[in-house]
Amino acid sequence: MKFGTKAIHAGVHPDPSTGAIMTPIYQTSTYVQESPGVNKGYGYARGKNPTREALQNALAALENGKYGVCFSSGVAATDAVLKMLNPGDEVIAGSDLYGGTYRLFTHIYEKFGIKFHFVDLTNADHMNAFINDQTKLIWAETPTNPTMQIIDIEACAKIAKANNITLVVDNTFASPYLQNPLDLGADIVMHSVTKYLGGHSDVVMGALITNNPEIHEKLYFILNSSGANPGPMDAFLVLRGIKTLHLRMERHCYNGRKIAEYLKQHPKIEKVYWPGFPEHPNHDIAKKQMRDFGGMVSIVLKDHTIENTFKVASSFKVFSLAESLGGVESLINHPATMTHASIPKAEREKAGVVDHLLRLSIGVEDVEDLIADIEQALN
Ligand SMILES: Cc1ncc(COP(=O)(O)O)c(C=O)c1O
Repeated sequence: MKFGTKAIHAGVHPDPSTGAIMTPIYQTSTYVQESPGVNKGYGYARGKNPTREALQNALAALENGKYGVCFSSGVAATDAVLKMLNPGDEVIAGSDLYGGTYRLFTHIYEKFGIKFHFVDLTNADHMNAFINDQTKLIWAETPTNPTMQIIDIEACAKIAKANNITLVVDNTFASPYLQNPLDLGADIVMHSVTKYLGGHSDVVMGALITNNPEIHEKLYFILNSSGANPGPMDAFLVLRGIKTLHLRMERHCYNGRKIAEYLKQHPKIEKVYWPGFPEHPNHDIAKKQMRDFGGMVSIVLKDHTIENTFKVASSFKVFSLAESLGGVESLINHPATMTHASIPKAEREKAGVVDHLLRLSIGVEDVEDLIADIEQALN
């Protein structure tokens, strides 16, 4: 099946008892058993829920994977991957990461004896200096948040395979519509489902997808043991959201391109981060591994003062000043004080996340209205 057909049909079947075309919301905590241990495959809803299962199968299909596991947030999905490790293990992670991922690694897992190396992964060979017998995981985010660097997934996978290391790709920014890391050699794909997959800013959820049955078994065991399971109502909302993923992404990409090009020639803008520009340092890799360039655009203002940055960020009328991304509505975010506030300033600035950088999540509104809004906010 092609992507749009999968987005609508994969993993979902009419309800066997009524024929309802939409997967029912199985709002239950437990399942009645005929006799102890004899049930219809469902014992307790932390472990299994039919609405969640339909979503897990749909997400696996969209990522060309065999197994999907959903979690109560993207961070909970990341947390589950880290729980596969043991004290003394080492992780190589990209140096430009979502702030919450960085916080989880450094504030929670470092104290349990896991060592993290934050490395510029735009050249996969940079990893070689950090790989040793303890290296168990590579964590890559591409495009990166918020500077839109592109990491060559195939090149990372080659190094990971040669050294028997698990490669995880956070595919949140691209969505499975634009990029399928498992096809490029990754072992696990991670999503903040909260973003493009949900698509309507009404759910917080995470997911992990893999082709490896052992990894799947471990992740499912962690889900059931640690209990970060999402509720069935949220699973239903995401099932509904992904039915239009291909339509929304097409428009996000169209609007993203128009706005990136408009911003590039704007006299008040110093720099625009968008991987679709031919002069973007990783444009060729983006072209190779993505189907289009997405709806995320970051800008650096020419006026570096924090007063001006805050004034611009607060002047939008159609865009909303808010954390998150990937919904139908356009959002503006100030990473230094919002999504990336948990990263120390010096670390942040090394990755280009300066105080006068703003990140735009371009929604699916009419692009002329979005451009007019940016124009008035910058002036
Ligand atoms: C790239 C990326 N990964 C992971 C997360 C965490 O996901 P959640 O907010 O669903 O926990 C986010 C959230 O913004 C993100 O942008």
